[in-house]
Amino acid sequence: DFYAQLRAIHIDQLERKWITISLIVIGLFVGIITIDALFHGVNPPSKVETVDSASLHLNKEFAEDNLGVQVDDKGNVTVRMVAGRYSFFPKHITVPAETTLTFRWVSMDVLHGVHIPMTNMSTMIVPGYVAEITTTFPKPGEYPMLCNEYCGLGHNHMWSNISVIA
Ligand code: CUA
Repeated sequence: DFYAQLRAIHIDQLERKWITISLIVIGLFVGIITIDALFHGVNPPSKVETVDSASLHLNKEFAEDNLGVQVDDKGNVTVRMVAGRYSFFPKHITVPAETTLTFRWVSMDVLHGVHIPMTNMSTMIVPGYVAEITTTFPKPGEYPMLCNEYCGLGHNHMWSNISVIA
């Protein structure tokens, strides 16, 4: 039968050894991924915070009039932005230099990314999740904010400006 024929095939001893090793390694990887998924879930890093991308306009935090830069009583600066094909909203923001800024992004449609060249800021904006990054701009200047996940035909036009002032 088929299995008898298969067993009859000659496989070199060394080759047999490497086939076994590679199967063990693959098994190990799949095992680690499965265990991690069971214990930590299969979510993006911001896993704890979800948002309904389809109704952002009804969402208090990400409603249109709540977007942009906000400073609370304690002086904490929070920037809320919505990513959508093909822009970040608002299109332009002004923030202070040498100040800790908390950026919170959500997507209103598909997967986007946000990258600010010359800074440590780069994250995916996964629909359904809040992407949060804390950063500080060391010096004043004009910074572009670019989308770095392909999101459609207008992807390369998807950008906003950040003015960092002293
Ligand atoms: Cu948004 Cu690419």
